[in-house]
Amino acid sequence: MVSQVRVAGVGMTPFGKSPERSAREMFGDAADEAIEDAAVTPDQVEEVFYGNFMGEFAEQQGHQGPLAAEAAGVNAPATRIESACASSGAAVRMGVDRIRAGMADVVLVGGAERMTNLSTAEGTAGLAAAADALWEINQGVTFPGAYSLMANRYFEKYGGDREDLAHVAVKNHDHAVNNELAQFQMEITVEKVLDAVQVCSPFGLFDCSPMSDGGSAAVLVSEEFAQDHGLAAPVAITGTGQGSDSLALHDRESITGTPAADRAAESAYEDAGIGPDDVDVAEVHDCFTVAEVLAIESLGFYEKGEGIKAARSGETTIDGDLPVNLSGGLKAKGHPVGATGGAQISEMTKLLRGDHVNSDAVSDATVGLTHNAGGTVASCVVNVLEVVE
Ligand code: COA
Repeated sequence: MVSQVRVAGVGMTPFGKSPERSAREMFGDAADEAIEDAAVTPDQVEEVFYGNFMGEFAEQQGHQGPLAAEAAGVNAPATRIESACASSGAAVRMGVDRIRAGMADVVLVGGAERMTNLSTAEGTAGLAAAADALWEINQGVTFPGAYSLMANRYFEKYGGDREDLAHVAVKNHDHAVNNELAQFQMEITVEKVLDAVQVCSPFGLFDCSPMSDGGSAAVLVSEEFAQDHGLAAPVAITGTGQGSDSLALHDRESITGTPAADRAAESAYEDAGIGPDDVDVAEVHDCFTVAEVLAIESLGFYEKGEGIKAARSGETTIDGDLPVNLSGGLKAKGHPVGATGGAQISEMTKLLRGDHVNSDAVSDATVGLTHNAGGTVASCVVNVLEVVE
């Protein structure tokens, strides 16, 4: 019988600017917290999957699997997983698979990224490596540029405008106000978003996630291990799915949808035996405001072309029917790219366990979903978390 995978412990560093700290230090801190939260010992960890995207570029550091294990004080097989900004979402998925396969009972997953030791121009160049080198990077495409193409085409096809997107940013900043781990703990207004300096039309500063440093970790255990060791691990990962797409936008049939996320969601729902209507709360990859719109459509919460109104109508706010990004999302919590997928698991586990600052808003929630994307969603990992006891 396939073992159910429990999230026994989670940890993450505050996200923000700490350019003097190495990725390994930040992962070490997050891992220490997750191991303590799980009430396991480092020598019980049997495998490590670590997400990082641009360590060679930012820190001249490769060979990061064993380095991450060492930073966590763990001596176990350790592998770095790279899938651009979806790196640690994919690392979580590897851990889930490992436990389900019966190959391990205790797996440490997560990731880290150091970005603000670079200038914005250098960081932008580093991030651009997640696009297609032959057809995009060489032509000067950057991620704000690529997502702005998607936003403008979405407006042409379905309608909607900058103000609709501004509501996504306002909502996510609102959600982060009391989140001590978030990079920006301040409210903003629609006017402030619309008046901000332009980054790439239609995006202004507040349509973009920031450059961030941070680490995240989770200890996943088999149900049997949790029972045998008396661990309090009420949240399980009951479904996981992953999808891929062409790296280059021009190779896609359409740029107003994200088929890799459609496929990841379909697999994760099937795996968990649930559908979109069962989800109570979601953390999605809002690297740019339009990305949240595309995510909630791919996840089946909204029809294509309908997601653009969700934040403005209040449906995805903290008081709405389906709160999205109660952590503040990438926009306000920050986006140290290799840490983001693991941070989503950390925030969602706490939201469902009842020990997150915003848990009261979802006190009846039993099903949470995380959506973590790489590049212009050329890769996507969706994980379903459920309260099982
Ligand atoms: N949202 C809100 N405020 C932001 C911000 C953001 N995204 N990015 C920076 N700021 C703030 C900084 O805190 C700083 O405020 P301060 O002066 O009060 O300290 C100010 O704006 C200037 O910061 P700086 O780092 O100089 O910004 P920048 O203009 O060089 O860069 C962006 C801003 C938006 C271009 C940059 O954050 C960016 O490229 N983001 C996208 C990252 C990305 O592509 N990630 C991968 C997604 S796939």
